Amino acid sequence: MSNQDELFNPLDPDVLRDPYPVYRQLRESDPVHWHAGLGAWVLTRYADCLQVLKNSAVFAADFRKVGIPTPDPLLSLQTLDPPDQTPLRHFAVDALRSQDMGALERNAQQRAERLLDGLAQRETIDFVTDFATPFTLGTISELVGMPPPEADEQWRQRNDELHRSMDAGLDPGSEEAGLAARQHFSDFVAGWLANGPTDGISGYVAANRAKVDYPDAVLHNSLRAFWHAGFEVPARFLGNALTTLTAHPDSVSLLGADPDTAVEELVRFCGPVHVVSRVCTEDVTVGERRMRRGQMVVVILAAANRDPERFADPERLDLTRSPNPHLGFGRGAHSCLGNLVARIEGRVALTAVLRRYPALAVDGALDPWENATLRGYSSIPLRLHGAPVVS
Ligand code: HEM
Repeated sequence: MSNQDELFNPLDPDVLRDPYPVYRQLRESDPVHWHAGLGAWVLTRYADCLQVLKNSAVFAADFRKVGIPTPDPLLSLQTLDPPDQTPLRHFAVDALRSQDMGALERNAQQRAERLLDGLAQRETIDFVTDFATPFTLGTISELVGMPPPEADEQWRQRNDELHRSMDAGLDPGSEEAGLAARQHFSDFVAGWLANGPTDGISGYVAANRAKVDYPDAVLHNSLRAFWHAGFEVPARFLGNALTTLTAHPDSVSLLGADPDTAVEELVRFCGPVHVVSRVCTEDVTVGERRMRRGQMVVVILAAANRDPERFADPERLDLTRSPNPHLGFGRGAHSCLGNLVARIEGRVALTAVLRRYPALAVDGALDPWENATLRGYSSIPLRLHGAPVVS
């Protein structure tokens, strides 16, 4: 497996900077594309992506159905499909419903203001490390009922290894370290539950453990997946959204007018989760191509979200777009469990930052994150007041 393909090299520096032109080219020239390097079908049309997401019996997240083993640290609600996944997914939904989302939002507002207060004397900041990461880490920590981990060197290294392995299809060498990192974080989560938590999602899980009949490891991996998705993904989203807004200054006032509609459009236009993968459990036709049992399918959500067959003028950011049936949170059995939390974080953080700094501007080169699955920036230098030095 590799990056190499005549049409699509996901980690090419130009594609990392802006993948949308190549998504468009794929959608227009070969929307159900056999990617030679990946050994997988790559889908870029909305209708085809939706077909895959909605049919988990034929397009499975559980690769064991076609004889591909799932390593232990990966076994979770993300890699099980209905009906095996259903009780666990319901348990997770109940755990979330038991939380006070109004309080989470109020505390997120205070967290955003506190972080901005701490930056008030600065002319320039790195939005990723100074705001987005501590904001989302604080919010998910409150939600799971655990203090944020100490982000020391070892933690950062594990986190990097986990990230790199998200692209294991492109870089098989990253897989082993990624599995070890996941196991490390699952052990960390198991430590929470062993201490009899009473608050947040982990308090709910500890109190209601007997309601679900899964091995401890699957429960720990699922809580780890929730926790990890809960800070990394929205942090990337906030970075993508903020840079998009600074590139569309005329749109900024619309964010304040209707933040909910605006956040939906930002998830469509620059959502961070570009890719999800499934495996065919039987021979099946998608578009005009015949797929075989055992073949992998790469669904490019970000390409589907700009399909002109589904969205009028899809390359245009329209913060008033409604309805907006984007696939940025996925769809079907594995759709985003944290979408409500992500929406809260989006409207709270973006309105707080832009209310305080309406003239902020990118101040230097954006540093794209080297990740084809979860796209974003590893640093976003911002000048808080006044004109950009470089934009
Ligand atoms: C803007 C921010 C976010 C975006 C764009 C996003 C997007 C997604 C997408 C596209 C999926 C589907 C994956 C698939 O089909 O395989 C997903 C799944 C998931 N997300 Fe999110 N997410 C965000 C934030 C969050 C947050 C804040 C949390 C937790 C609080 C979270 C927890 C999860 C979990 C646990 C799953 C797996 C669900 C399953 O497999 O059943 N996400 N997310």
